[in-house]
Amino acid sequence: MAEPLFSLPPLPYAYDALEPYLNASLLREHHDRQLARYVSQLNALITAHPQLSQWSLEQLTRDWTRLPDEIRVAVRNSAGGVYTHALYFNSLAQPNSTGASKDILSAIDRDFGSMPEFWRSFRFLALKQFGSGNLWLVADRNLRLHLTLLNWQDTPFPLMPLAVADLWEHAWYPQYASDKDAYVNALPALLNWASIGARYRALQAQNMT
Ligand SMILES: [Fe+2]
Repeated sequence: MAEPLFSLPPLPYAYDALEPYLNASLLREHHDRQLARYVSQLNALITAHPQLSQWSLEQLTRDWTRLPDEIRVAVRNSAGGVYTHALYFNSLAQPNSTGASKDILSAIDRDFGSMPEFWRSFRFLALKQFGSGNLWLVADRNLRLHLTLLNWQDTPFPLMPLAVADLWEHAWYPQYASDKDAYVNALPALLNWASIGARYRALQAQNMT
């Protein structure tokens, strides 16, 4: 049997690393079952449509409109699910373990006014999302930062993703029940500023070439 085309991206920390904000059983279910399901759905699609086997994950999520009608939605959902979840888990870190670097802080000040204003917008949008979706921190071609809500597993390309917050109920309901506010309020302690900074600096380097 051939190797699967995409493998389950490893969780970048221990299952209990985000406690008490996200507990180990929630994280295990979210990563080992939800993300694994997206990976196996995507691999099944590619096995059935080998013309996709040369496409990267990013191509599948950004160029899905070029796909044949009969698999367009399925690829958009499954490739988007893999991309979004891999970035989501990398967007989180052990509570209060990272801080925004000077370049990110000045970009936040420039584009949101201040860090408290950034979190006010983040919280407002996260609570505004109705139904399943994600809140993305993205950079445009001028490296300006934006927060944008997208439904389902849609990705924000050509805007470049820096981080994403999963707002699907499966991301928080098992721990917080109907208290979505508590989940959203936990995210400031968990956001991985080191990862955001690294992605932002990679975009800056690309823009200079
Ligand atoms: Fe999720």
